[in-house]
Amino acid sequence: MESIDGRLIVEVPLIDRATDPVQSDSPAADPTALAKEWLPADGEDRMLMTVSTVDAEGFPRGRTVMLSEFDGERFFFHTDSASQKVADLTANPKVSLTILWPGFTRQLVVQGTAEAAPPDEASRAYETRSPYLRQLAWLNDAETAILPRAEREQRWAAYAARVPDPVQPDNWVGYGVSPHRLLFWVSHPDAPSRRVEYTRTAAGWKHRHLPG
Ligand SMILES: Cc1cc2nc3c(=O)[nH]c(=O)nc-3n(C[C@H](O)[C@H](O)[C@H](O)COP(=O)(O)O)c2cc1C
Repeated sequence: MESIDGRLIVEVPLIDRATDPVQSDSPAADPTALAKEWLPADGEDRMLMTVSTVDAEGFPRGRTVMLSEFDGERFFFHTDSASQKVADLTANPKVSLTILWPGFTRQLVVQGTAEAAPPDEASRAYETRSPYLRQLAWLNDAETAILPRAEREQRWAAYAARVPDPVQPDNWVGYGVSPHRLLFWVSHPDAPSRRVEYTRTAAGWKHRHLPG
């Protein structure tokens, strides 16, 4: 299938404009329910997202992480407590998440505030990570990063042989992002792309349509 800019893309079903809540003339009242509908259900493959923080110099800093879970209220991701993103969030918990679906179909941008995830949520996420990712949580530190390649690989192999099923390390942390604003984008080859932005107010969610 060709995308709307002429490039070949992964085959994905087009949205049904007649029933799609973003294309609709009367958008969904509750954006968190809509986000839940868009995102994979428990047990399905996790989405990737760009998590953007603001660093100590005031520059935005984005990186890809796995969206571990959306519980209907918070978007959770997990990481290393020694990472740059944790330093950024400790100083400024305001964060933006960009989630992109394949094939030019959908984008969800979230602005919100990140808070440490409850310990049981972080443990659940660790348990659902693959053996490779569980080991990575132990061996992806600054000390290993500067070793020569042969030593890094030897350390990796020795660890895998010694610890076949690594338990959750102390540096494993989770964050839950409570949305202040959600921006849903959908496209269709026969119509302009459409965005609806929801902002949380004291009176509930307010929405407006935007170009782009
Ligand atoms: C596809 C993909 C998935 C990733 N998933 C995670 C993740 O779930 N958690 C994480 O901490 N880093 C993940 N990373 C690595 C981050 O992009 C990033 O390099 C790392 O977290 C260090 O970021 P920081 O120094 O800005 O904190 C992933 C990278 C890629 C390319």
